[in-house]
Amino acid sequence: MASFGRFIRLALGACALVLVIVAAPASAQQVNPTASSVKEQQLLQELNRIQGRVSIPDQRSGVLEQPQGREWREFRNVTLRWIGGVAIVGMLALLVVFYLTRGMVRLESGRSGRSIVRFTMFERFVHWMTATCFIILAISGLNITFGRPLLLPLIGFEAFSEWSQWAKYAHSYLSFPFTIGVILIFLMWIAGNIPNKVDVAWIRRGGGIVGHDHPPAYRFNAGQKMIYWIVVIGGGLVAATGYQLMFPFYIGGIGGMQMAQIIHSVVAVLFVAAMIAHIYIGTIGMEGAFEAMGSGEVDLNWAREHHSLWLEEQSGRTGPNDQRPQQATAAAE
Ligand code: HEM
Repeated sequence: MASFGRFIRLALGACALVLVIVAAPASAQQVNPTASSVKEQQLLQELNRIQGRVSIPDQRSGVLEQPQGREWREFRNVTLRWIGGVAIVGMLALLVVFYLTRGMVRLESGRSGRSIVRFTMFERFVHWMTATCFIILAISGLNITFGRPLLLPLIGFEAFSEWSQWAKYAHSYLSFPFTIGVILIFLMWIAGNIPNKVDVAWIRRGGGIVGHDHPPAYRFNAGQKMIYWIVVIGGGLVAATGYQLMFPFYIGGIGGMQMAQIIHSVVAVLFVAAMIAHIYIGTIGMEGAFEAMGSGEVDLNWAREHHSLWLEEQSGRTGPNDQRPQQATAAAE
């Protein structure tokens, strides 16, 4: 019996010794960061950053992890996905509800059969070049943000890496025509997009989109002016930050790169949400709107309902009899 008691005491003593060794504070252990096997968590407790030595001239690449980097990673993998998801899915949901309740904005006075030139060939070329680049930049950019959690499980590693590589090439190379497009849009339409008193009245009257009113507007109404400034400012911001990401560390250090990525990605997802609304109103949202950017000509009654002050200006310049009959309208009738 006595020997059994001694055995129990010995066993308890041994357990206590093991516990003391295991629970020894990490800081008391000397961690060698260059050891062949070292746990990340151990290093973080020790130094709060993982840093080593590198043989290349840029010593910044020696920092593998640091507190600020972990905060950025949290933003990139969690917060950004929430902002993007809520903005894009929210906008789509809003438009579905709007379409189901309001329906298409109809051409209430019917077609006159006569048309007026709204956008020249050059303006339409710039618009469609920029729009095509934007759509591809948006899809390829969103693949970087959402591809791993959403697309990878569906198509598998091989297809995902092949697609992502092409998407990345597209994102890099189409940035150049997109930037040229944004600059041309800025120069081409700035004169018609300076806010004025007519815009205030247009907004107060719901722009004719919420109700069935037809508030007067010049060439661009307040809604279109908002889209114009979103494109110019948003496009300018994604371009400036995008080139900073494309040519890393030319401007700023790691903090600058993180800031560029945050601005680029947040502006981009909000930009996509805004452009979804723009595409909606230019297609199924408003009767006759697509023709303006399609053929470049709109029906006189459409111009009267949506841009009455612009039509007055144009009629004053060319005379009402100068409007050529629109072939597309005649064909549709
Ligand atoms: C001049 C134009 C642009 C340039 C130079 C540019 C450049 C870049 C670069 C270098 C990256 C990082 C790619 C990587 O991590 O491998 C990126 C990411 C991204 N871009 Fe762009 N981009 C441009 C325009 C756009 C536009 C118009 C959109 C969308 C409307 C967009 C959306 C995104 C998104 C969502 C990401 C991923 C952000 C992330 O999750 O980290 N970009 N872009």
